[in-house]
Amino acid sequence: MTASPPEISARTALVAADMLEVDRVIAQRLDSGVPLVGEVARYIISAGGKRLRPALLLMVCGALGYQNPRRFELAAVVEFIHTATLLHDDVVDDSSLRRGRPTANEVFGNPASVLVGDFLYSRAFQMMVAGGEMRIMQILADTTNVIAEGEVLQLMNMHDASLTEANYLKVIRSKTAKLFEASAQLGAVLAGNTALEAHCAEYGQALGTAFQVIDDVLDYAGDASEMGKNLGDDLREGKTTLPLIIAMQRGTPDQSQLIREAIETGAADKLEAIATAVRETGAIDSARDAAAAEARRAMAAIEHLPANPWRDALLELPADLLRRRA
Ligand code: IPE
Ligand code: IPE
Ligand code: MG
Ligand code: MG
Repeated sequence: MTASPPEISARTALVAADMLEVDRVIAQRLDSGVPLVGEVARYIISAGGKRLRPALLLMVCGALGYQNPRRFELAAVVEFIHTATLLHDDVVDDSSLRRGRPTANEVFGNPASVLVGDFLYSRAFQMMVAGGEMRIMQILADTTNVIAEGEVLQLMNMHDASLTEANYLKVIRSKTAKLFEASAQLGAVLAGNTALEAHCAEYGQALGTAFQVIDDVLDYAGDASEMGKNLGDDLREGKTTLPLIIAMQRGTPDQSQLIREAIETGAADKLEAIATAVRETGAIDSARDAAAAEARRAMAAIEHLPANPWRDALLELPADLLRRRA
């Protein structure tokens, strides 16, 4: 099981009690008359994960003084949507390790993972509709739609070694940053703070972009046991991520050719050599710099919030995510 790394849980400590409430809601809402639903859903959810998206929503609520228990429901909704994307993603990526455990598709098979992912999406929508707030439904419906588009766009880009940085960015803004954006924005919407909604949304978007860039770096420079997932999955899939884009621009003709071929064939037998090339060309550092620029954008956006301990924690979080190893 994976939990939040200490630097992240320290930052989200202000909402630790709230998160227990969210866990309670999650456990309650997994209820289904169909035993396999609960079995698969509990398998992945009990494995933990960082619970970053609900924490983000709760921290914005804290910063803006919103205390209604409705926030626990919506925090659970964003975690359900996230979990559904992971169930589907591990099928699509043919991944075998997640949160330090064999993936649900590895244990229960692809069909069960896809179908329980559908259950979680639709359960999230039942919970969100129960509140009857049109604006919230609109944000979450758009978000879920954009995530799906991002995953499809990425599928279309597979094995394309000429993918530009702009098109890479488009994918990660959709598949990852959008849910971070919605989570932070929803905190402001719940608090009825229309003046700060756009700043919160920008914070989430920038934070989520930085988060995914770091994730893509860790796929070449991380540690599998800390990450709780296999390294090199991106290369195996022929996925052109920022570290590879930069390494191909900067590398010797041989290094660029090595990477190009690996992307085009999806052959991961050169993973070692490619990880070395990515490091030696400075692509790891440059990708980290790109993530740092997004982190600064997040900090600038959240500075608009009133000064209080929650805002301070939100200000520190981007730097923590840049340092993360898991
Ligand atoms: C994994 O997200 C998917 C990506 C966007 C990279 P997290 O790293 O937040 O996953 P958990 O919930 O902590 O396992
Ligand atoms: C995660 O994407 C899934 C979504 C954001 C929808 P990735 O495939 O890049 O992330 P991991 O490495 O499996 O967590
Ligand atoms: Mg994946
Ligand atoms: Mg994927």
